[in-house]
Amino acid sequence: MLWSLYQRAVESRRSDAVLHDPDGVRIMEALDYDFAGHFGIPGGALAARAATIDRTLIDWLGEHPDGLVISLGEGLETQARRVDNGRMHWLSVDLPEAIRLREAFLPPTRRFRHLTMSALDPDWMERIDPVGPVFIVAQGLLMYLEPEAVGRLLGRAAACLPGARLVFDTIPPWLSWLTLLGLHQTARYRLPRMPWGIARDEIEPTLRRWCPGIGPVEMLPYGMPRGMPSAVSRFVTTAAVVRHQVPSLVLTSFGAGLVSH
Ligand SMILES: C[S@@+](CC[C@H](N)C(=O)[O-])C[C@H]1O[C@@H](n2cnc3c(N)ncnc32)[C@H](O)[C@@H]1O
Repeated sequence: MLWSLYQRAVESRRSDAVLHDPDGVRIMEALDYDFAGHFGIPGGALAARAATIDRTLIDWLGEHPDGLVISLGEGLETQARRVDNGRMHWLSVDLPEAIRLREAFLPPTRRFRHLTMSALDPDWMERIDPVGPVFIVAQGLLMYLEPEAVGRLLGRAAACLPGARLVFDTIPPWLSWLTLLGLHQTARYRLPRMPWGIARDEIEPTLRRWCPGIGPVEMLPYGMPRGMPSAVSRFVTTAAVVRHQVPSLVLTSFGAGLVSH
């Protein structure tokens, strides 16, 4: 949560920023934490990921200005403030410790609500009006869950919220394995366990198994925003041997059933 906040805030301060996140900068500056010492120099991929999701949400809100966005595992993300159209509603679902920290900087309002609950608890889905337009964001969350739990979560959400849009990101299996072995990003920061890894070409068949009737599955651009790392990530996503072994950002929608969003 702090690592992705740091990436967005550092990106936001650049003159060529791909993301403007003034609230992220405010929160980072207020936290007494050695971000650079723990995380090293941010490459900007997580900021670019957030910017792509922002654009997707803004497009959707253009069609559904009063829609509800549900952000699972939102941490200290300030996306609601970046895309707000003054009418939409937003629900952040996260664990108690994260919501406590979030509320120190981003107090809930009538339109921006918080739910202290695991995303794996189906109770949050049952509280949502299944007829209104819904967009579910799971940014930087699903890789931290066991694969079976991801399947149960998405399968239940598809059944409870037909027609809802969904965006989420994934990591490839090799990266998942490295985190299970104990991968250090810097000497002071060991990446948390990420048990769910999936190759890009497995994503669509897996989603179709978990959520029958799901709509088109689209891969959104996801990589370093500039420089040599950006060229390398563009090359990797086209190279035959490794092109499915990359992080992905996925956009889809649950089968509409009787409801159309
Ligand atoms: C890597 S952070 C990502 C935060 C935010 N989405 C972002 O992109 O900056 C993972 C977040 O998922 C939350 N999380 C982990 N397990 C969860 C669960 N079972 N239910 C809800 N949130 C969870 C953590 O508390 C944390 O806020």
